Amino acid sequence: MTKINRTNKELEQVNKKYCRIILTDDLPSWHRLVETKGGQLEYRMGIGKKKEMTVRAYRTLIRSIVQTAKSHQLDNIALEINVKGSPQLENMGTEWTHRTVSENLQLAQYEFNKYKTEEKDKVELKEILVCGKMTASEKKAFEAGLIIGEGANFTRDISNTSGDDMTPSLLAKAAQTALKGTKAKVITLDIKAIKKLEMGLLEAVGKGASDSSRFIIVEYWGLGKPNKSDVEKKPVVLIGKGITYDSGGLNVKPSGSMHDMHMDMSGGGAVIGTMRAIAKLGLKKNVVGLIPTAENAISAESMRAGDIATSMSGLTVEIMHTDAEGRMVLADAITYAQKFYSPSVMLDAATLTGASLSALGQHTSAILTKDENLQRILQELGEESGDLMWPLPLWDEYNEILKSTRADICNIAHNFSRWGGCIEGGAFLSFFADKKIPWAHLDIAPRMESIATDKLAKGATGEPVRLLVSFVQQWKG
Ligand code: BES
Ligand code: MN
Ligand code: ZN
Repeated sequence: MTKINRTNKELEQVNKKYCRIILTDDLPSWHRLVETKGGQLEYRMGIGKKKEMTVRAYRTLIRSIVQTAKSHQLDNIALEINVKGSPQLENMGTEWTHRTVSENLQLAQYEFNKYKTEEKDKVELKEILVCGKMTASEKKAFEAGLIIGEGANFTRDISNTSGDDMTPSLLAKAAQTALKGTKAKVITLDIKAIKKLEMGLLEAVGKGASDSSRFIIVEYWGLGKPNKSDVEKKPVVLIGKGITYDSGGLNVKPSGSMHDMHMDMSGGGAVIGTMRAIAKLGLKKNVVGLIPTAENAISAESMRAGDIATSMSGLTVEIMHTDAEGRMVLADAITYAQKFYSPSVMLDAATLTGASLSALGQHTSAILTKDENLQRILQELGEESGDLMWPLPLWDEYNEILKSTRADICNIAHNFSRWGGCIEGGAFLSFFADKKIPWAHLDIAPRMESIATDKLAKGATGEPVRLLVSFVQQWKG
């Protein structure tokens, strides 16, 4: 792990063990590592015209600094935060700047070395030193950013872990570890409890696996536990898809589409990482995280295409396709949230469809909601935090295609239509969401794995932890 430290010293004052990062107005492709006459290492990076610096470019710049330092095998680097002369950044305010810098340093230093045995394959910086005096509020924002970035990195560790080492019961253990020593409480419901609650969809998805389905609950009462009448204390409920491995089930995935499905618990992992950050920040908010978790495996016990399962809500679901399992486990979690928590708002995050990638590419997740206010907030916070979100429609017209001949609804289009698959997933969930509760579905499949322009380690991105924390911070249900 790289240490990220702070000093009141100016960049020019730090000692020679640090390579100083100097930003210049040369073209952004211009980079040069120099050793001055005094034996001081300097890494000079062109950033182009300062006054044209954008929020997005700034985040990438912070990450590039770390990535470049790693590739030059530098052990210690020092840098400063200075956005004078960049109107877009100055506009965001200094708290945003400080949080953004520490978050992105934290995200960029991350490497996943769990399965590496050769020392030379483990590239990590020793220390990043951030120079210059900070005001109290800047310091607070900077420290918060480190905690939020760490929460996202915790999520990445969970997501990057193989399905064999992260089965439903092990995911429940990871949640325990994540929240240990905090005010949050973790409760895990086993298969007996799941059956008793009649969560028939969560049960069905896990039937083929040797480690059965679990339902992980993380409660954080930053405002105190609410009574029935405590409207102000109604919690934000965050739901995350926790499919620890998605083979597709009997409708088995083709080769080439299966190897990365250990990351199909990224939504659940993000909810765990978010709860960890929220609890460590000690936010004065009530938040509940729900993670329905199962392995979508193949065996004689697996759910079959054509089986009909009864959801916790009572709606019966014809399982037309065993690979549309994420929406099934989420549906029961939504019902559970509504039955036991009276949420002020519900957000679910799920690597739900490959179709979301066809629609949007790999730069943004999809938002599906009927609540225009919520859509606007999430899109804006996405831009501010870096966990980008883009809306797709969730109109009632799309519901028609899910009608079933033998049951109430199908889990995919009854005619196997492949069009609008991402919306279809949202439409399915909308059958379970109470119209009186603001709710948004985030299809995060596009952001499951990092791409080169992210300037992050390959593998899981830890999204949308930054967005979810920001959302909880500002939500006034
Ligand atoms: N976990 C997958 C979706 C996915 C695909 C996430 C690629 C990340 C990358 C999900 O459970 C799934 O299999 N969805 C199917 C739905 C289809 C059967 C309607 C899909 O996208 O093909
Ligand atoms: Mn699937
Ligand atoms: Zn899946």
